[in-house]
Amino acid sequence: MSTTVVSDILRGDGDRFVYLVSAMAALNGLLFGFDTGIISGAILFINDTFSMSPLVEGIVVSGAMAGAATGAALGGRLADRLGRRRLIMLSAAVFFLGSFLMAVAPTVPVLVAGRLIDGVAIGFASVVGPLYISEIAPPRIRGGLTSMHQLMVTIGILSSYFVNYAFSGSGAWRWMLGAGMVPAVVLGIGVLKMPESPRWLYSHGEPDRARAVLRRTRQGDIEEELGEIKETVERESGTSIKKLFEPWLRPALIVGIGLAILQQVTGINAVMYYAPTILESTGFSSVASILATVGIGVVNVLMTVVAIVYIDRVGRRALLLVGTAGMTITLAILGVVFYLPGLSGVLSITATVCLMLYISFFAIGLGPVFWLLISEIYPLAVRGSAEGVATVTNWVANLAVALSFPVLTANVGPSATFWLFGVFSAVAFVFTYGLVPETKGRTLEAIESDLRDNVSMTD
Ligand code: BGC
Repeated sequence: MSTTVVSDILRGDGDRFVYLVSAMAALNGLLFGFDTGIISGAILFINDTFSMSPLVEGIVVSGAMAGAATGAALGGRLADRLGRRRLIMLSAAVFFLGSFLMAVAPTVPVLVAGRLIDGVAIGFASVVGPLYISEIAPPRIRGGLTSMHQLMVTIGILSSYFVNYAFSGSGAWRWMLGAGMVPAVVLGIGVLKMPESPRWLYSHGEPDRARAVLRRTRQGDIEEELGEIKETVERESGTSIKKLFEPWLRPALIVGIGLAILQQVTGINAVMYYAPTILESTGFSSVASILATVGIGVVNVLMTVVAIVYIDRVGRRALLLVGTAGMTITLAILGVVFYLPGLSGVLSITATVCLMLYISFFAIGLGPVFWLLISEIYPLAVRGSAEGVATVTNWVANLAVALSFPVLTANVGPSATFWLFGVFSAVAFVFTYGLVPETKGRTLEAIESDLRDNVSMTD
């Protein structure tokens, strides 16, 4: 057998294992997407079982986001302390508990508790999913693998639409919410097969285990990567939270927090959560609007696959720039369409096409690239905590948009609201152009070393 054949097989083996464990870890994303999407259908029927004040209903719907912000805040620290793998186990258990409580809830307080607990798990998942994958993946395919997390988020959202649809005839909301227990169990079992992140192991005094994991997940020589990890760990022993505020880290913090806010204030969830309402207002029937919403979910999944294919080839910056430019243009057109009087015919088709294009541009840019970058640009010693900060910010911004969108459309109208999202998308373009680093194909340690040396990575 020639050496290339042997190395091909080795490559296949190493990659196959990495793909498998990454897909497992990405189930965190599936749960995140499913549990955020399912409530929109379930809430219609929960109202038939329990009488809830609007405030309580609001807590049941958006409680998951508040829970997620809390979960992300705790999750970042826990990821650094307990390890990535143990936090994934914890997240599976908490997901199960939350879904179980919601499914069997005899009273409203139990339902609310279940939703909050579920939210905490969503927060854990959104921190640890991308973090784990980015640390286990070889640099060459890290972007695509880590973006599997986002792909699973979109698949989770889409499957929640289907589950909602499947149970809508019977109004079986307990089954809708309880369905989240299934992926939680799969994740709980799958994590038993996952190795701990080699980077976390090394930084917690287990170099031999780190080496063993790298050997299993890499083709060929691991010494260079191991050497880089060693150097990084030796340079910064201890995981003091104070490190987060050291000046050399500021650019990375600004990028993480900035993208976290911009990912949300450019309106993605206003569209995801209110798509049927938006579409109905363009003159579609309810059934057509719901079908078109499923179409939006499908486009979201498909375009995320496109992002995965290109992210390690063209790089993170190119996708973000194209994505945010496209979002700006489609939102500007949407604003015009809603500004014109008497939406019908050509205009409602234009609105639908623009919504689909808007989702496509999100799905190749801000959607996956935000989660990827925040798992790449922070130094090992505080990676979990720093990613936690960006993730908490993302959830708080998500909640703020969810709460303000209905108020905004009622007061300034849909066209001004779309234009506002469009302005934020233009800001996201400029922000990316000026500040977001390119991390394609480099080891996490090389990225960290450039950050420390204040080398510009935007060229
Ligand atoms: C965002 C979510 C959003 C989802 C849509 C994620 O990257 O963080 O807020 O619902 O993408 O695909």
